Amino acid sequence: MIDKSYIEKEFRELQKIKNKSFEEGVIKVWILGCKKGGWERIDDIPFTLLIPTKISLIEHTRRVTQMAISIAEKRKDLDMDILIAGALTHDVGKLLEYTREGDKIVKSRFGMRVRHPISGYGIALESGLSQEVAHIIFAHSHEGDKIERSPEAIVVHHCDFIEFEIAKTI
Ligand SMILES: [Fe+2]
Repeated sequence: MIDKSYIEKEFRELQKIKNKSFEEGVIKVWILGCKKGGWERIDDIPFTLLIPTKISLIEHTRRVTQMAISIAEKRKDLDMDILIAGALTHDVGKLLEYTREGDKIVKSRFGMRVRHPISGYGIALESGLSQEVAHIIFAHSHEGDKIERSPEAIVVHHCDFIEFEIAKTI
């Protein structure tokens, strides 16, 4: 069952968020995403359907978050709470973009119409996360190319593409 303790256990980077309301917002986002997408388990969802991969959505999310934290620790001019909350939720819209069909994870009917940065942005605002965090979700992929990304969104965008581009070579 996907509940608060499951999300806390899977996403240990949550412990690095100082502001409790951001931490609670991230947990709410994942629970709401699972509810909307009808997921009873999420551990076997791949991080992308664009290439064959063994990397799960949870592993990918954690690695993007860890890379983003490393960058922020070196720079010291980024808002760490906004960055971690945004990194941990950037792909939550995939819970709507994908669906389980038998033993396969496939693109959902909804996902054919609305990409995950848009649906994730909506779930984040519905869960009470700030506009700055929702912006990271909206802007992490190509949608963000047409607007001005915040510094935190630039970091998450690049960490996400490092993961994707390297996964393509494996
Ligand atoms: Fe991602």
